[in-house]
Amino acid sequence: MDKLLIEGGARLEGQVTISGAKNAALPLICAALLTEAPLHLSNVPHLKDVTTMLRLLAQMGIDVTLDERNCLTLAATGLNNPVAPYDLVKTMRASILTLGPLLARTGEARVSLPGGCAIGARPVDIHIRGLQAMGADVQVEHGYIHARARKLRGAKIFTDLVTVTGTENLMMAAALAEGTTVIENAAREPEVVDLANCLNAMGARVSGAGSDVITIEGVERLAGASHRIMPDRIETGTFLTAVAVTSGKVRLKRTSAAILDAVIEKLREAGVRISATEDGLEVESDGRLKAVSLRTAPYPAFPTDMQAQFMAMNAVAQGTAVVTETIFENRFMHALELRRLGADIEINGNTAVVRGVPRLDGATVMATDLRASACLVVAGLVARGETLIDRIYHLDRGYEHIEEKLSQLGARIRRVH
Ligand code: EPZ
Repeated sequence: MDKLLIEGGARLEGQVTISGAKNAALPLICAALLTEAPLHLSNVPHLKDVTTMLRLLAQMGIDVTLDERNCLTLAATGLNNPVAPYDLVKTMRASILTLGPLLARTGEARVSLPGGCAIGARPVDIHIRGLQAMGADVQVEHGYIHARARKLRGAKIFTDLVTVTGTENLMMAAALAEGTTVIENAAREPEVVDLANCLNAMGARVSGAGSDVITIEGVERLAGASHRIMPDRIETGTFLTAVAVTSGKVRLKRTSAAILDAVIEKLREAGVRISATEDGLEVESDGRLKAVSLRTAPYPAFPTDMQAQFMAMNAVAQGTAVVTETIFENRFMHALELRRLGADIEINGNTAVVRGVPRLDGATVMATDLRASACLVVAGLVARGETLIDRIYHLDRGYEHIEEKLSQLGARIRRVH
Protein backbone atom coordinates (compact mmCIF):
# COMPACT_ATOMS: atom_id res chain seq x y z
CA MET A 1 0.00 0.00 0.00
CA ASP A 2 1.49 3.36 -1.03
CA LYS A 3 2.51 5.94 1.54
CA LEU A 4 3.62 9.56 1.25
CA LEU A 5 6.86 10.63 2.94
CA ILE A 6 7.15 14.38 3.60
CA GLU A 7 10.13 16.28 5.02
CA GLY A 8 8.53 19.45 6.41
CA GLY A 9 9.83 23.01 6.31
CA ALA A 10 10.13 23.83 2.59
CA ARG A 11 8.55 27.06 1.31
CA LEU A 12 6.22 26.48 -1.65
CA GLU A 13 7.12 28.74 -4.58
CA GLY A 14 6.35 28.86 -8.29
CA GLN A 15 3.19 28.02 -10.17
CA VAL A 16 0.78 25.11 -10.30
CA THR A 17 -2.03 24.20 -12.70
CA ILE A 18 -5.31 23.20 -11.11
CA SER A 19 -7.10 20.18 -12.59
CA GLY A 20 -10.72 19.77 -13.60
CA ALA A 21 -13.17 19.39 -10.72
CA LYS A 22 -13.78 15.84 -9.45
CA ASN A 23 -17.23 16.80 -8.19
CA ALA A 24 -18.18 18.24 -11.57
CA ALA A 25 -16.61 15.44 -13.65
CA LEU A 26 -18.55 12.68 -11.88
CA PRO A 27 -22.09 13.97 -12.60
CA LEU A 28 -21.05 15.16 -16.07
CA ILE A 29 -19.90 11.65 -16.99
CA CYS A 30 -23.30 10.32 -15.84
CA ALA A 31 -25.07 12.88 -18.04
CA ALA A 32 -23.81 10.86 -21.03
CA LEU A 33 -26.32 8.16 -20.06
CA LEU A 34 -29.16 10.51 -21.03
CA THR A 35 -28.51 10.32 -24.77
CA GLU A 36 -27.16 7.98 -27.43
CA ALA A 37 -25.28 10.89 -29.05
CA PRO A 38 -21.63 11.32 -28.09
CA LEU A 39 -20.76 13.62 -25.17
CA HIS A 40 -17.28 15.18 -25.30
CA LEU A 41 -15.76 16.30 -21.98
CA SER A 42 -12.44 18.15 -21.75
CA ASN A 43 -10.24 19.09 -18.76
CA VAL A 44 -11.02 15.67 -17.28
CA PRO A 45 -9.01 15.14 -14.08
CA HIS A 46 -6.98 11.94 -13.93
CA LEU A 47 -8.41 10.57 -10.66
CA LYS A 48 -9.27 7.18 -9.22
CA ASP A 49 -12.93 8.18 -8.78
CA VAL A 50 -13.14 9.19 -12.45
CA THR A 51 -11.59 5.88 -13.53
CA THR A 52 -14.11 4.03 -11.35
CA MET A 53 -17.04 5.95 -12.84
CA LEU A 54 -15.81 5.20 -16.37
CA ARG A 55 -15.54 1.51 -15.50
CA LEU A 56 -19.06 1.64 -14.11
CA LEU A 57 -20.44 3.09 -17.35
CA ALA A 58 -18.37 0.78 -19.55
CA GLN A 59 -19.92 -2.29 -17.89
CA MET A 60 -23.33 -0.79 -18.68
CA GLY A 61 -22.37 -0.83 -22.36
CA ILE A 62 -21.22 2.77 -22.77
CA ASP A 63 -18.41 3.37 -25.25
CA VAL A 64 -15.66 5.27 -23.40
CA THR A 65 -12.60 6.78 -25.11
CA LEU A 66 -10.07 8.98 -23.29
CA ASP A 67 -7.35 10.63 -25.37
CA GLU A 68 -3.90 11.74 -24.26
CA ARG A 69 -5.08 15.32 -23.79
CA ASN A 70 -7.55 14.21 -21.09
CA CYS A 71 -10.49 14.59 -23.46
CA LEU A 72 -13.25 12.05 -22.94
CA THR A 73 -15.84 10.86 -25.45
CA LEU A 74 -18.80 8.92 -24.08
CA ALA A 75 -21.37 7.28 -26.36
CA ALA A 76 -24.29 5.54 -24.69
CA THR A 77 -25.63 3.99 -27.90
CA GLY A 78 -24.98 0.49 -26.56
CA LEU A 79 -26.53 1.00 -23.12
CA ASN A 80 -27.73 -2.53 -22.38
CA ASN A 81 -27.20 -3.07 -18.68
CA PRO A 82 -28.76 -0.36 -16.47
CA VAL A 83 -27.11 -1.77 -13.34
CA ALA A 84 -24.55 -0.27 -10.95
CA PRO A 85 -23.14 -3.32 -9.10
CA TYR A 86 -22.11 -3.37 -5.44
CA ASP A 87 -18.44 -4.16 -6.11
CA LEU A 88 -18.04 -0.82 -7.91
CA VAL A 89 -20.51 1.27 -5.90
CA LYS A 90 -18.87 0.28 -2.58
CA THR A 91 -15.67 2.00 -3.74
CA MET A 92 -17.37 5.20 -4.84
CA ARG A 93 -20.63 6.60 -3.45
CA ALA A 94 -21.01 9.00 -6.37
CA SER A 95 -22.19 5.96 -8.37
CA ILE A 96 -25.63 6.96 -7.09
CA LEU A 97 -25.51 9.64 -9.82
CA THR A 98 -26.30 6.93 -12.42
CA LEU A 99 -29.74 6.31 -10.88
CA GLY A 100 -31.58 9.34 -12.28
CA PRO A 101 -30.14 9.23 -15.80
CA LEU A 102 -30.59 5.45 -16.19
CA LEU A 103 -34.20 5.66 -15.06
CA ALA A 104 -34.96 8.60 -17.34
CA ARG A 105 -33.29 7.01 -20.37
CA THR A 106 -34.28 3.31 -20.09
CA GLY A 107 -37.23 3.30 -17.68
CA GLU A 108 -35.35 1.04 -15.28
CA ALA A 109 -32.29 1.17 -13.00
CA ARG A 110 -30.73 -1.12 -10.43
CA VAL A 111 -28.15 0.73 -8.35
CA SER A 112 -26.45 -0.72 -5.31
CA LEU A 113 -27.15 1.26 -2.17
CA PRO A 114 -23.94 3.14 -1.36
CA GLY A 115 -22.66 1.60 1.86
CA GLY A 116 -21.49 3.47 4.91
CA CYS A 117 -18.73 6.01 4.64
CA ALA A 118 -16.07 7.19 7.05
CA ILE A 119 -17.49 10.71 7.32
CA GLY A 120 -21.13 9.83 7.90
CA ALA A 121 -24.19 7.72 7.14
CA ARG A 122 -24.86 9.69 3.93
CA PRO A 123 -28.29 8.22 3.13
CA VAL A 124 -29.87 8.68 -0.30
CA ASP A 125 -33.49 8.95 0.84
CA ILE A 126 -33.92 12.40 -0.74
CA HIS A 127 -32.76 11.07 -4.13
CA ILE A 128 -35.32 8.27 -3.88
CA ARG A 129 -38.21 10.44 -2.67
CA GLY A 130 -37.59 12.88 -5.52
CA LEU A 131 -37.77 10.12 -8.14
CA GLN A 132 -40.93 8.75 -6.53
CA ALA A 133 -42.43 12.24 -6.78
CA MET A 134 -41.74 12.01 -10.52
CA GLY A 135 -43.75 8.79 -10.67
CA ALA A 136 -41.01 6.18 -10.28
CA ASP A 137 -41.71 2.91 -8.51
CA VAL A 138 -38.68 2.44 -6.24
CA GLN A 139 -38.02 -0.68 -4.17
CA VAL A 140 -34.97 -1.04 -1.94
CA GLU A 141 -34.20 -4.71 -1.46
CA HIS A 142 -31.14 -6.92 -0.98
CA GLY A 143 -28.90 -3.84 -0.87
CA TYR A 144 -30.08 -2.49 -4.23
CA ILE A 145 -32.28 0.39 -5.28
CA HIS A 146 -34.57 -0.95 -8.00
CA ALA A 147 -36.37 1.87 -9.80
CA ARG A 148 -38.85 1.62 -12.65
CA ALA A 149 -40.85 4.24 -14.56
CA ARG A 150 -42.32 3.96 -18.04
CA LYS A 151 -42.01 7.73 -18.30
CA LEU A 152 -41.09 10.14 -15.50
CA ARG A 153 -43.46 13.04 -14.95
CA GLY A 154 -42.42 16.55 -13.98
CA ALA A 155 -43.07 17.32 -10.30
CA LYS A 156 -42.60 19.96 -7.66
CA ILE A 157 -39.91 18.67 -5.26
CA PHE A 158 -38.79 20.18 -1.97
CA THR A 159 -35.57 18.59 -0.67
CA ASP A 160 -35.67 18.84 3.12
CA LEU A 161 -31.87 18.97 3.21
CA VAL A 162 -29.61 20.66 0.67
CA THR A 163 -28.05 17.76 -1.20
CA VAL A 164 -25.50 18.25 -3.99
CA THR A 165 -25.73 14.86 -5.72
CA GLY A 166 -29.43 14.69 -4.86
CA THR A 167 -30.01 17.92 -6.77
CA GLU A 168 -27.85 16.65 -9.65
CA ASN A 169 -29.60 13.27 -9.82
CA LEU A 170 -33.07 14.84 -9.89
CA MET A 171 -32.02 17.49 -12.41
CA MET A 172 -30.78 14.79 -14.82
CA ALA A 173 -33.89 12.65 -14.34
CA ALA A 174 -36.15 15.67 -14.90
CA ALA A 175 -34.38 16.58 -18.15
CA LEU A 176 -36.24 13.75 -19.96
CA ALA A 177 -39.43 13.75 -17.89
CA GLU A 178 -42.82 14.73 -19.28
CA GLY A 179 -43.62 18.27 -18.12
CA THR A 180 -41.86 20.64 -15.76
CA THR A 181 -39.98 19.84 -12.55
CA VAL A 182 -39.19 22.42 -9.89
CA ILE A 183 -36.56 21.56 -7.28
CA GLU A 184 -36.83 23.79 -4.21
CA ASN A 185 -34.08 24.08 -1.61
CA ALA A 186 -31.72 22.96 -4.39
CA ALA A 187 -27.94 22.88 -3.91
CA ARG A 188 -26.24 26.03 -5.26
CA GLU A 189 -22.73 24.57 -5.69
CA PRO A 190 -20.79 25.63 -8.81
CA GLU A 191 -20.64 21.96 -9.84
CA VAL A 192 -24.45 21.94 -10.06
CA VAL A 193 -24.25 24.97 -12.37
CA ASP A 194 -21.57 23.25 -14.47
CA LEU A 195 -23.86 20.23 -14.92
CA ALA A 196 -26.84 22.45 -15.79
CA ASN A 197 -24.76 24.25 -18.41
CA CYS A 198 -23.76 20.94 -19.99
CA LEU A 199 -27.36 19.62 -19.93
CA ASN A 200 -28.54 22.80 -21.66
CA ALA A 201 -25.79 22.40 -24.27
CA MET A 202 -27.29 18.93 -24.87
CA GLY A 203 -30.71 20.49 -25.48
CA ALA A 204 -32.18 20.36 -21.97
CA ARG A 205 -34.14 23.29 -20.56
CA VAL A 206 -32.71 23.95 -17.09
CA SER A 207 -33.05 27.36 -15.45
CA GLY A 208 -32.20 28.71 -12.00
CA ALA A 209 -29.07 26.58 -11.43
CA GLY A 210 -26.94 28.35 -8.83
CA SER A 211 -30.04 29.47 -6.96
CA ASP A 212 -32.08 27.36 -4.56
CA VAL A 213 -34.94 26.93 -7.05
CA ILE A 214 -34.12 25.02 -10.24
CA THR A 215 -36.74 24.56 -12.97
CA ILE A 216 -36.37 21.84 -15.59
CA GLU A 217 -38.72 21.56 -18.56
CA GLY A 218 -38.54 17.97 -19.77
CA VAL A 219 -37.70 17.34 -23.45
CA GLU A 220 -38.18 14.30 -25.70
CA ARG A 221 -34.52 13.54 -26.20
CA LEU A 222 -31.09 15.07 -25.71
CA ALA A 223 -28.31 15.54 -28.23
CA GLY A 224 -24.57 15.26 -27.77
CA ALA A 225 -22.40 18.24 -26.76
CA SER A 226 -18.86 19.30 -25.95
CA HIS A 227 -18.21 20.65 -22.46
CA ARG A 228 -15.10 21.74 -20.59
CA ILE A 229 -15.14 20.68 -16.95
CA MET A 230 -14.81 23.57 -14.48
CA PRO A 231 -11.71 23.90 -12.29
CA ASP A 232 -11.55 22.06 -8.97
CA ARG A 233 -12.27 24.62 -6.25
CA ILE A 234 -11.35 22.19 -3.47
CA GLU A 235 -7.97 21.38 -5.02
CA THR A 236 -7.52 25.16 -5.38
CA GLY A 237 -8.38 25.70 -1.71
CA THR A 238 -6.12 22.85 -0.63
CA PHE A 239 -3.12 24.41 -2.40
CA LEU A 240 -3.97 27.79 -0.87
CA THR A 241 -3.75 26.33 2.64
CA ALA A 242 -0.49 24.53 1.78
CA VAL A 243 1.07 27.83 0.67
CA ALA A 244 -0.33 29.57 3.75
CA VAL A 245 1.36 27.21 6.24
CA THR A 246 4.70 27.06 4.40
CA SER A 247 5.11 30.86 4.06
CA GLY A 248 5.10 30.41 0.31
CA LYS A 249 4.30 32.40 -2.80
CA VAL A 250 2.51 30.55 -5.58
CA ARG A 251 0.50 31.34 -8.69
CA LEU A 252 -2.43 28.96 -9.29
CA LYS A 253 -3.37 28.62 -12.96
CA ARG A 254 -6.54 27.48 -14.77
CA THR A 255 -8.76 28.16 -11.79
CA SER A 256 -10.79 31.08 -10.50
CA ALA A 257 -11.20 33.07 -7.30
CA ALA A 258 -14.92 33.39 -8.02
CA ILE A 259 -15.78 29.82 -6.98
CA LEU A 260 -14.46 29.86 -3.46
CA ASP A 261 -15.23 33.28 -1.95
CA ALA A 262 -15.87 31.91 1.54
CA VAL A 263 -12.48 30.15 1.61
CA ILE A 264 -10.61 33.20 0.32
CA GLU A 265 -12.38 35.39 2.87
CA LYS A 266 -11.19 33.13 5.69
CA LEU A 267 -7.63 32.97 4.34
CA ARG A 268 -7.45 36.77 4.21
CA GLU A 269 -8.78 36.89 7.78
CA ALA A 270 -5.91 34.55 8.71
CA GLY A 271 -3.43 37.03 7.19
CA VAL A 272 -2.80 35.38 3.82
CA ARG A 273 -2.45 37.67 0.79
CA ILE A 274 -4.54 36.52 -2.20
CA SER A 275 -5.13 38.33 -5.48
CA ALA A 276 -7.04 37.32 -8.61
CA THR A 277 -5.08 36.96 -11.86
CA GLU A 278 -6.46 36.62 -15.38
CA ASP A 279 -6.41 32.80 -15.28
CA GLY A 280 -6.48 32.05 -11.58
CA LEU A 281 -5.03 33.57 -8.46
CA GLU A 282 -1.81 34.40 -6.66
CA VAL A 283 -1.27 33.59 -2.99
CA GLU A 284 1.50 34.68 -0.59
CA SER A 285 2.02 34.15 3.11
CA ASP A 286 4.63 35.21 5.63
CA GLY A 287 3.74 32.18 7.71
CA ARG A 288 2.44 34.20 10.67
CA LEU A 289 -1.17 33.05 10.58
CA LYS A 290 -4.06 34.07 12.80
CA ALA A 291 -6.47 31.35 13.92
CA VAL A 292 -9.80 31.60 12.09
CA SER A 293 -13.04 30.09 13.33
CA LEU A 294 -15.41 28.64 10.74
CA ARG A 295 -18.72 26.89 10.32
CA THR A 296 -19.36 24.65 7.32
CA ALA A 297 -22.61 24.99 5.38
CA PRO A 298 -23.93 24.56 1.83
CA TYR A 299 -22.55 26.84 -0.91
CA PRO A 300 -21.89 29.76 -0.94
CA ALA A 301 -20.96 29.31 2.74
CA PHE A 302 -17.71 27.68 3.85
CA PRO A 303 -17.41 24.24 2.16
CA THR A 304 -17.23 21.13 4.34
CA ASP A 305 -14.59 19.77 1.92
CA MET A 306 -12.19 22.49 3.12
CA GLN A 307 -12.79 22.00 6.86
CA ALA A 308 -9.99 19.47 7.38
CA GLN A 309 -7.39 21.55 5.53
CA PHE A 310 -8.26 24.59 7.65
CA MET A 311 -7.91 22.53 10.81
CA ALA A 312 -4.29 21.83 9.79
CA MET A 313 -3.78 25.54 9.20
CA ASN A 314 -5.33 26.49 12.54
CA ALA A 315 -3.15 23.90 14.29
CA VAL A 316 -0.10 26.11 13.66
CA ALA A 317 -1.80 29.53 13.74
CA GLN A 318 -1.67 32.08 16.57
CA GLY A 319 -4.73 31.91 18.78
CA THR A 320 -7.69 29.59 19.13
CA ALA A 321 -10.20 28.63 16.45
CA VAL A 322 -13.63 27.04 16.81
CA VAL A 323 -14.44 24.77 13.88
CA THR A 324 -18.06 23.67 13.49
CA GLU A 325 -19.01 20.92 11.01
CA THR A 326 -22.72 21.06 10.16
CA ILE A 327 -22.90 18.83 7.04
CA PHE A 328 -21.50 15.44 8.06
CA GLU A 329 -21.75 13.82 11.48
CA ASN A 330 -18.27 12.29 11.61
CA ARG A 331 -15.87 14.53 9.78
CA PHE A 332 -13.26 15.15 12.49
CA MET A 333 -11.17 11.98 12.21
CA HIS A 334 -8.24 14.00 10.88
CA ALA A 335 -8.13 15.76 14.27
CA LEU A 336 -7.07 12.51 15.95
CA GLU A 337 -4.19 12.16 13.47
CA LEU A 338 -3.21 15.85 13.79
CA ARG A 339 -2.85 15.28 17.55
CA ARG A 340 -0.14 12.70 16.75
CA LEU A 341 1.78 15.55 15.12
CA GLY A 342 1.41 17.64 18.29
CA ALA A 343 -1.75 19.61 17.50
CA ASP A 344 -3.88 20.82 20.42
CA ILE A 345 -7.48 20.00 19.44
CA GLU A 346 -10.48 19.30 21.61
CA ILE A 347 -13.59 17.75 20.05
CA ASN A 348 -17.07 18.36 21.44
CA GLY A 349 -19.67 16.74 19.14
CA ASN A 350 -19.64 18.66 15.87
CA THR A 351 -17.37 21.37 17.23
CA ALA A 352 -13.58 21.29 17.46
CA VAL A 353 -11.55 23.82 19.47
CA VAL A 354 -8.09 24.19 17.88
CA ARG A 355 -5.39 25.95 19.91
CA GLY A 356 -2.44 26.94 17.72
CA VAL A 357 0.94 25.50 18.75
CA PRO A 358 4.36 26.93 17.81
CA ARG A 359 5.33 23.81 15.94
CA LEU A 360 4.15 20.38 14.77
CA ASP A 361 6.54 17.42 14.83
CA GLY A 362 6.56 14.83 12.06
CA ALA A 363 5.17 11.37 12.79
CA THR A 364 3.54 8.41 11.09
CA VAL A 365 -0.16 9.11 10.51
CA MET A 366 -3.03 7.44 8.69
CA ALA A 367 -5.44 8.88 6.14
CA THR A 368 -9.07 8.03 6.86
CA ASP A 369 -10.90 9.79 4.03
CA LEU A 370 -10.16 12.00 1.04
CA ARG A 371 -10.02 15.44 2.64
CA ALA A 372 -8.51 14.10 5.88
CA SER A 373 -5.60 12.91 3.71
CA ALA A 374 -5.24 16.41 2.26
CA CYS A 375 -5.19 17.84 5.78
CA LEU A 376 -2.34 15.51 6.76
CA VAL A 377 -0.35 16.53 3.67
CA VAL A 378 -0.76 20.21 4.60
CA ALA A 379 0.31 19.44 8.18
CA GLY A 380 3.28 17.34 7.00
CA LEU A 381 4.52 20.21 4.83
CA VAL A 382 4.95 22.41 7.91
CA ALA A 383 5.77 19.82 10.61
CA ARG A 384 9.41 19.56 11.71
CA GLY A 385 11.08 16.41 10.41
CA GLU A 386 9.48 13.53 8.56
CA THR A 387 5.79 12.72 8.31
CA LEU A 388 4.77 9.38 6.81
CA ILE A 389 1.11 9.21 5.68
CA ASP A 390 -0.37 5.75 5.26
CA ARG A 391 -3.47 4.68 3.23
CA ILE A 392 -3.06 7.44 0.67
CA TYR A 393 -5.36 5.61 -1.74
CA HIS A 394 -7.91 7.98 -0.20
CA LEU A 395 -5.89 10.90 -1.54
CA ASP A 396 -5.62 9.44 -5.05
CA ARG A 397 -9.40 9.48 -5.33
CA GLY A 398 -9.54 13.25 -5.45
CA TYR A 399 -6.15 14.78 -6.20
CA GLU A 400 -4.34 14.47 -9.52
CA HIS A 401 -0.58 13.82 -9.12
CA ILE A 402 -0.51 15.79 -5.86
CA GLU A 403 3.05 14.83 -4.93
CA GLU A 404 4.36 15.85 -8.39
CA LYS A 405 2.55 19.19 -8.18
CA LEU A 406 3.87 19.84 -4.66
CA SER A 407 7.42 18.72 -5.56
CA GLN A 408 7.44 21.18 -8.45
CA LEU A 409 6.69 23.89 -5.90
CA GLY A 410 9.67 22.84 -3.78
CA ALA A 411 8.04 20.48 -1.30
CA ARG A 412 10.17 17.55 -0.14
CA ILE A 413 7.55 14.86 -0.72
CA ARG A 414 7.67 11.44 -2.34
CA ARG A 415 5.54 8.34 -2.70
CA VAL A 416 6.97 5.21 -1.07
CA HIS A 417 5.59 1.74 -1.78
C1 EPZ B 1 -21.26 16.00 -2.33
O1 EPZ B 1 -21.57 14.80 -1.64
C2 EPZ B 1 -19.77 15.93 -2.62
N1 EPZ B 1 -19.49 14.78 -3.47
C3 EPZ B 1 -19.01 15.82 -1.28
O2 EPZ B 1 -17.62 15.84 -1.59
C4 EPZ B 1 -19.35 17.04 -0.44
O3 EPZ B 1 -18.71 16.92 0.81
C5 EPZ B 1 -20.87 17.12 -0.24
O4 EPZ B 1 -21.53 17.14 -1.52
C6 EPZ B 1 -21.29 18.38 0.52
O5 EPZ B 1 -20.84 19.51 -0.16
C7 EPZ B 1 -19.76 14.86 -4.80
O6 EPZ B 1 -20.24 15.88 -5.29
C8 EPZ B 1 -19.44 13.65 -5.63
P1 EPZ B 1 -24.91 15.86 0.13
P2 EPZ B 1 -23.12 14.39 -1.43
O7 EPZ B 1 -25.95 14.99 -0.47
O8 EPZ B 1 -23.94 14.90 -2.55
C9 EPZ B 1 -27.52 14.42 3.82
C10 EPZ B 1 -15.40 15.14 -1.45
O9 EPZ B 1 -14.60 15.17 -0.51
N2 EPZ B 1 -28.34 13.67 2.85
O10 EPZ B 1 -24.84 17.30 -0.29
O11 EPZ B 1 -23.15 12.94 -1.11
C11 EPZ B 1 -26.10 13.88 3.91
O12 EPZ B 1 -26.03 12.81 4.83
C12 EPZ B 1 -16.83 14.70 -1.21
O13 EPZ B 1 -15.14 15.47 -2.63
C13 EPZ B 1 -29.44 12.95 3.29
O14 EPZ B 1 -29.73 12.92 4.49
O15 EPZ B 1 -23.49 15.21 -0.12
C14 EPZ B 1 -25.34 15.09 4.41
O16 EPZ B 1 -25.48 15.19 5.81
C15 EPZ B 1 -17.04 14.26 0.24
N3 EPZ B 1 -30.21 12.29 2.39
C16 EPZ B 1 -26.06 16.27 3.76
O17 EPZ B 1 -27.34 15.76 3.36
C17 EPZ B 1 -29.92 12.31 1.03
O18 EPZ B 1 -30.68 11.69 0.24
C18 EPZ B 1 -25.37 16.83 2.53
O19 EPZ B 1 -25.01 15.73 1.71
C19 EPZ B 1 -28.80 13.05 0.60
C20 EPZ B 1 -28.02 13.73 1.51
